Amino acid sequence: MAIRKILRFGNGHLYSEASLVTQFNTPELHQLIEDLHDTMLANEAVGIAAPQIGIPLQVAVFGFEKSEQFYYADPIKKTVLINPSLKAISTDTNEDWEDCLSAAGIHGLVTRFTHIQYSGYDQFGNFFNREAEGFHARLVQHEYDHLFGKIFISKVKDYRYFGFEEELREVFNTTGSKLR
Ligand code: NI
Repeated sequence: MAIRKILRFGNGHLYSEASLVTQFNTPELHQLIEDLHDTMLANEAVGIAAPQIGIPLQVAVFGFEKSEQFYYADPIKKTVLINPSLKAISTDTNEDWEDCLSAAGIHGLVTRFTHIQYSGYDQFGNFFNREAEGFHARLVQHEYDHLFGKIFISKVKDYRYFGFEEELREVFNTTGSKLR
């Protein structure tokens, strides 16, 4: 079990495009995924991407049975997503609050596609292809962005809806946010 240090926004490694994984089912890749998983759980997060622990590879881990923070979201099967592709199935979007391990304590309102198709490989090199809606679609878009050097902060359009959790309480209340 290895809980890794999370890079926080401002660190340049979060803004570079990660490289494709070229070898699957290796001890190094399995170790990376175990570390990502352990680090995610230790931080009570629902997703994490390798660049967030300073590894510039296109690897993300996400999923949860039950999340205290995202109590309103349906469970998502624990997933290892490597070398992903992603496209929107419809042009519909919605806004919701996001946060990130690389910006602990900070929330922002972000627009995302509501219905996507994504594909990629697991750690053994098996290809998979899925459709996702709602929170699942949002989470995958957030993690996918990390692999291409983007963090959610750059997608916030209105900075009245961005900031530290304690300071946003009133905004959460007045916008009918699901965040408490
Ligand atoms: Ni994140």
